[in-house]
Amino acid sequence: MLKYGLRIKIIACFFGLILLMGILITAMVRQKISTALREQYINKGKNLAVSINAQGEHLILVDDMIALQGLVDEIKLKDNDVSYAFLVGNDGKVLAHTFDRKFPDKLLAVCAAGPDNNVILLDTELGMIRDISVPILNGKLGITHIGISEHGIQVAISSVTFIIIAIVLAVMIAGAITAFSIGTLITRPLRQLTTAAQEISMGDFNQQISIKSKDEVGTLTAAFNRMSKSLEEQREKIIALGNEQSQLQAQMFQQEKMSVIGQLSATIAHELNTPLNTILLQAQLLKEELEEKSPKGENGPGDIKMLETEIARCKLIVQNLLDFSRQPFNEKEPADMELLLEKTLQIMKNEFALRKIIVSRVIVNKLPEISANVNHLQQVFLNLLNNAMDAMPDGGNITITSGYIEDDNAIQIAIKDTGTGITKEDLKRIFDYFFTTKEPGKGTGLGLPICKQIVNDHGGTIDVQSEPDKGSIFIIKLPVNGERLNG
Ligand SMILES: Nc1ncnc2c1ncn2[C@@H]1O[C@H](COP(=O)(O)OP(=O)(O)OP(=O)(O)O)[C@@H](O)[C@H]1O
Ligand SMILES: [Mg+2]
Repeated sequence: MLKYGLRIKIIACFFGLILLMGILITAMVRQKISTALREQYINKGKNLAVSINAQGEHLILVDDMIALQGLVDEIKLKDNDVSYAFLVGNDGKVLAHTFDRKFPDKLLAVCAAGPDNNVILLDTELGMIRDISVPILNGKLGITHIGISEHGIQVAISSVTFIIIAIVLAVMIAGAITAFSIGTLITRPLRQLTTAAQEISMGDFNQQISIKSKDEVGTLTAAFNRMSKSLEEQREKIIALGNEQSQLQAQMFQQEKMSVIGQLSATIAHELNTPLNTILLQAQLLKEELEEKSPKGENGPGDIKMLETEIARCKLIVQNLLDFSRQPFNEKEPADMELLLEKTLQIMKNEFALRKIIVSRVIVNKLPEISANVNHLQQVFLNLLNNAMDAMPDGGNITITSGYIEDDNAIQIAIKDTGTGITKEDLKRIFDYFFTTKEPGKGTGLGLPICKQIVNDHGGTIDVQSEPDKGSIFIIKLPVNGERLNG
């Protein structure tokens, strides 16, 4: 009912209007027709009476009552509308009549009461009858009465009424169809507006309705479309503002964490630096001592040499940590990334061999020099390579692809492994501080966030693609001219 409210109202209006007009027209037509028919019937009655009088005068004068009776009988027989006919003499006696049995005296009394040459409506057993009286020879010989049945008029009026009602009904049906169509035409855009308004109330602000007319509905639709568009724009602005704020918060949070990590690593590095120096010194002394004792020294000094190298590496890492925590990020110099990659791989060579990892290098094209903090970027490569190794506990392949992308004026370095891969859920979190899937003591969850921080500081991007059980690929893009890359 609610859905079709307006349409039903329009139909009801049409119906009501047509019905009212139908009733009025019927009443008017009935009135007109009955007046016209009545006049026609009265004239007919008068004419019949006059014609009886014309012939009857002579018959009365010659006192031929049989012929007079024949005359009235003939008139009645000829016309179905004639209910009766009778002639009354001057003495008040009925001269001839068409009644089968006895003449109803009551009728005479009623008719006598009325004026001559007049019309009286009688309510009889035979129905409504109009008695029309015409004097014979100016009343000298009496009066002729003709009773014309109203039945014919009633039938005519009924059939006319029936036709009018049928026409009114047909017009009403046509009106209902028209009203339905008009209602649909009007309510369709309104229904569209209602649906769109409901969608907006449910949060979907982007509602545009096509404007099909230039009338009031079209204007309303255009206004609605404008409102919906502006709501959508406002919402986008609010979301953008929210995002900006949350990004700002996340950045602040990250910076805070970075400074804590920086302080922490600086302390640890500082603490480790001194004992490492001592150990290295001791190792060198021990080496010299052993060399003196066994100059050919196949085993002893060789092992000590390895010890020395490893300690030196520890020192380098500690130094890197110290550098990372102390150096401001913007200390950069022109650097050759290919060289840096080679150096890094060289440092890790033994580790790869030990963990049955085969490393392949794919050089797509020569890398131009970029402005970079070499120590920081080396840490990125070390972290990524360590992660790749950790993902392949039973060995596997690491492929490092490097190349220059002219369109972006950037270099791209991709480190691909054939390791365990990363699940979809973990992928969303691997760059979070302290997120690790490694056993306690094996991973701190700082590797990737630090990598991201360093790459971002170089204006670059770091992306990852990974599929569980198939492996992962970390793609680093660094701008050549130091301008920040999109993404
Ligand atoms: N190449 C990779 N293959 C599979 N998983 C990886 C890979 N690289 C990183 N991950 C996942 O991302 C997590 C976070 O890595 P991230 O380097 O930040 O920390 P970590 O390696 O766990 O610890 P840390 O590097 O501090 O020693 C890892 O624990 C691991 O689950
Ligand atoms: Mg790591």
